[in-house]
Amino acid sequence: MLKVHLTSTTSTNDAARQWALRHPDRPVLVSARVQTAGRGRGGRTWQSPSGGAWFSVAWPISGGLSRYAAAPLRVGLALAEQLDRTLIGSVLDRPPLIQIKWPNDLLLRERKVAGILCETTHGGETPSILVVGVGINVNVDPGSLGDRLAMPATSLRQESGSVWDLSQLIEEAGDAVGQALASLGDHGLREAERAAIESRLAWRDQPVRLRSHDEGAIDGKVLGITGEGHLKLRTPSGLRVVHSGDVIRLRPGSAAECFSSLLQEQVSVT
Ligand code: BTN
Repeated sequence: MLKVHLTSTTSTNDAARQWALRHPDRPVLVSARVQTAGRGRGGRTWQSPSGGAWFSVAWPISGGLSRYAAAPLRVGLALAEQLDRTLIGSVLDRPPLIQIKWPNDLLLRERKVAGILCETTHGGETPSILVVGVGINVNVDPGSLGDRLAMPATSLRQESGSVWDLSQLIEEAGDAVGQALASLGDHGLREAERAAIESRLAWRDQPVRLRSHDEGAIDGKVLGITGEGHLKLRTPSGLRVVHSGDVIRLRPGSAAECFSSLLQEQVSVT
C-alpha cells in the first residue's frame, strides 16, 4: 500500500481519491495531521484538529460494487479489534472494549471514539475506487470537537490517561483496514464475522430509535445484524430489517417507556 502523510488537507478522502487516480492499480493510504474540511456521514462536518488519527484508504474495486456492501462493517470490526489490542493493558476493562454502533461508529464506554465514512468513485474511463475514511479521536480533547455532535465523544487519551503515538496508531489501523478490504468475501459477511460484529453491537436488546431517509423514524430494540450487514430491530409491529440510517439510544423517561410493554412481546427471529 502506498502511504502518504500530509500536514494538512481539506479531507483525506478527497486526497486519497486523487492519489488513487494517479496510481490506479494499488491501494493508497493518505493521512493528515489536520483536516480543514473533514466530513462525516450524512453530510455532517467532522472536526479534525491535530491529535487525531485522520486517514483514508483508497481501494481499487474489483469484481463489482456489491462485493463491497459489507465493507463498512467489516472495516469497523477490524478497527475495533485493532483498538482493543492497543488499549489492553492501559484501560482497565477486559475486552471487548470497543463496541460497534451500527452501522459503523466505534464506541468506548458508550461514547464515540471513531467514525468511518465510505465513499465510492466510478465512471468513464477511470476504475472504480472505494475510499474508506477513518477518524479516531486519539489524543484530542473531546471538548474541542464542538458542541453540536450527534452523540457524546471521547478519545483514547481521555479514557486511558495516556498520550498515544499517532504515527504507530495510523500504521496499525491502516494495515487493519487494508487487511479487512483484502479479505472481503464475495457475498456479504462470513458467519464468524457477522457473529463477531454482533457480539460488539452497541445497545443490544436496548430501546433505540432508527432515523432513516427511506423509512423515517422506527422505534424498537436492537436484535442483531444479518449476513448482509443489515440491522435487525424488534418493533411493536414485529421484526424489521433496516438497510441504512442512524441509531440513537432511547433513555428511560423518553418515548422508550411508551413502547417498553409492547417490546416485551417476543418475536422469533431466525
Ligand atoms: C462519521 O462518523 O460520521 C464518519 C467520520 C469519518 C471521518 C474521517 S476523518 C478521515 C476521513 N476524511 C474525512 O473527511 N472524513 C473521514
